[in-house]
Amino acid sequence: MSDFKNLLVTRDGFVATVQLNRPKVLNALNIDLMTELVDCLEALDQDSGIRAIVLTGSEKAFAAGADIKEMADATAVEMLTRDQFARWDRIRKIKKPIIAAVSGFVLGGGCELMMHCDIIIASETARIGQPEILIGVMPGAGGTQRLTRAVGKGLAMEMILTGRQITAEEAMKAGLVNKVVPIEFYLEEAQKLAREIAEKPPVAVRLAKEAILKSFDTTIEMGLEFERKNFYLLFATEDMREGMSAFIEKRKAEWKGK
Ligand code: CAA
Repeated sequence: MSDFKNLLVTRDGFVATVQLNRPKVLNALNIDLMTELVDCLEALDQDSGIRAIVLTGSEKAFAAGADIKEMADATAVEMLTRDQFARWDRIRKIKKPIIAAVSGFVLGGGCELMMHCDIIIASETARIGQPEILIGVMPGAGGTQRLTRAVGKGLAMEMILTGRQITAEEAMKAGLVNKVVPIEFYLEEAQKLAREIAEKPPVAVRLAKEAILKSFDTTIEMGLEFERKNFYLLFATEDMREGMSAFIEKRKAEWKGK
C-alpha cells in the first residue's frame, strides 16, 4: 500500500483515505496514476479491515482532468486500443462506499472521477466543470452520462457545451454534491461521514450500495426485484438478527460483519 508513486494512502480504524498526489500537474490523471488508483481501491475493497474509503486530492486541485500531455499526440486508434477508460469501469465495481472530498479544480476527468464516488463533500473553493470542449474534445470517462443523471439535461448541456465551471454551492443546489463546507473542514467532514458509515453493518451497507447503483442501469421493475432479493439476503446475516434483537432489547447492536 505504501509504494505508490502517485498516491498517498492512510488508514484510521476502518477508514482508508486515498490522496491523489501529482501536485505539480494539479493531479492530472495519467495512465500510471489511474492504474495505481484502481489497484489501490481494489486492494482496499478486499481488505477486511477497511469498511469505507475517502478519495481526495489537494486543496488546490482534486484533479484537473485526464493528462492532456499524455493524449495530445495520440491517434484515434491508439486511444481505442489503449482503452484507458476501461480501467475506470473497475472503480464502478468497488463494493465499499467511496466518499469524495474535493477542493479546488475538479475538472474533466476529475469531475468524472468525483462522480464515480458514492457521496461527495466539497470545499467552498471547489470549481467543478467539464472543460473538454475548450480543447476540442468532449468528456470520455462518463461525464455525459453521469453529469446528466446528476444535474439534469439543461445544466449538463450548458456545462459540457460551454466548459463553464460551477461553484461548489451551485453544484450542491443542482444535486451534484452532498455538502459544501469551509476549506479547513472538507477532508475531515468526509472522513467523519466515512467513519459513520463504517460503524454500520457492512454487509447491509454493501448490498444497499449495490441496489442504489443498480437504479442507474435498469428498469424500475427489475430494480425493485433486485432490491427485494438483497433485502431478503440480509435475513441470512448474523447482523440482521443482532440488529433486530438489539432494537427489541433496547441496547446498542454489536456488528460482526457477517
Ligand atoms: N493535463 C496535464 N497537465 C495539466 C493538466 C491536465 N489536465 N491540468 C494542469 N496541468 C499542468 C499544467 O500544464 C501546468 O504544468 P507546467 O507547470 O509544467 O506548465 C501545471 O499543471 C499547472 O497548471 P497551470 O499553470 O495551467 O495552472 P493555472 O492555475 O494557471 O490553471 C487550470 C489551472 C485552469 C486547471 C488549467 O491548468 C487547465 O485548464 N487545465 C486543464 C483542464 C482541462 O482541460 N481538463 C480536461 C482534460 S481532458 C479530460 O479530462 C478528458 C476526459 O473526459 C477524461
